[in-house]
Amino acid sequence: MQNDRFLKACRREQVDCTPVWLMRQAGRYMPEYMAIRKKYDFLTMCKTPELAAEVTLQPINRLGVDAAILFADILLPLEGMGIDLKFAKNEGPVISNPVRTIQDVEQIRILEAEEATPYVMEAIRLIRKELDGRVPLIGFSGAPFTVASYIIEGGGSKEYKNCKTLMWKAPEIWDALMDKISQVLLKYLKAQIKAGAQAVQMFDSWVGALSPDDYETYVMPYSRYVLDALKDEGVPVIHFANNASTMLESVVKAGGDVIGIDWRINIDAAWSRIGYDKAIQGNLDPFTLFAPPELIEEKVKRILEMAGNRPGHIFNLGHGINKETPVENAIALVEAVHKYSKR
Ligand code: CP3
Repeated sequence: MQNDRFLKACRREQVDCTPVWLMRQAGRYMPEYMAIRKKYDFLTMCKTPELAAEVTLQPINRLGVDAAILFADILLPLEGMGIDLKFAKNEGPVISNPVRTIQDVEQIRILEAEEATPYVMEAIRLIRKELDGRVPLIGFSGAPFTVASYIIEGGGSKEYKNCKTLMWKAPEIWDALMDKISQVLLKYLKAQIKAGAQAVQMFDSWVGALSPDDYETYVMPYSRYVLDALKDEGVPVIHFANNASTMLESVVKAGGDVIGIDWRINIDAAWSRIGYDKAIQGNLDPFTLFAPPELIEEKVKRILEMAGNRPGHIFNLGHGINKETPVENAIALVEAVHKYSKR
């Protein structure tokens, strides 16, 4: 491996400078992504390993980040479960048969991931070949709650009304659904590791909608089931929980070698609560990238200062990069992290 500072930081080893990658780094803010996206819809890109590989490598070449992340989506496993997924123009994901009853849950299939999403595993093998050891490849999945929220609501949501109603009114249906989702996600991540993913991240993007108490009761056991089962797979596991600074301790209890945090908490406060026996990933507000380069540099320095050159910091945004972000500011961010964190 030519650049292994990301994997070293995951293991809390000494590094020459702080590694950095950006959540959603392959995407619409890049002209070279849009050039391909104009010709193919998003799902076609995900399902064509050559295209997925090409866009996975774009930010490596353009930004100089220290890790690649597989170009895919947290919702790809749904099709194999028998759930119908589409990406509507300007609307994001749409599911025409949301799951609300016990019969709906009973219909859900649990397939092997190589059978349900063979194109994802093929993309991983191809990306590893094309990366040729330049930087490590991160695989990923959604977390049980975040995936359940789409399956129950039928798409993205602001208030999670159907999701919370099911959770509280019909806990037996909730448990049966979460149990099946967790099994599918575990198979999906294990298959990615087997195909060549050198680290994996579990995205709990919408878990911040819950109270800490409900998180512990209804969600944590399922996240923990997946994360526990990954312990023996031999690769670092990143657990990203967005908008969850009120319940960091519970997120840590659920598991993960690296805890990913958003920008709503200072990284020094977060790390002291998480514990220094874990690595930490974060946590620049993604919209900082709309500010002038001098301000981006200043914010980078502040985060690096707060992380104090302690081994185990992976620099990232606090959530995915916005699709209107100026590319040159993303490049400036990566340069600033490397420059100001030289040991
Ligand atoms: O990080 C990367 O570069 C890898 C690619 C990646 C995508 N989705 C590609 C994508 C990753 C890691 C994801 C994860 C994902 N997908 C999450 C968790 C991350 C997060 O931001 O919290 C979620 C919630 C999804 C579900 C999803 N997929 C939504 C809500 C949308 C619509 C978003 C939007 O801004 O329109 C998608 C589509 C999607 N996934 C795009 C990309 C590049 C845009 C597709 C396009 O139109 O080109």
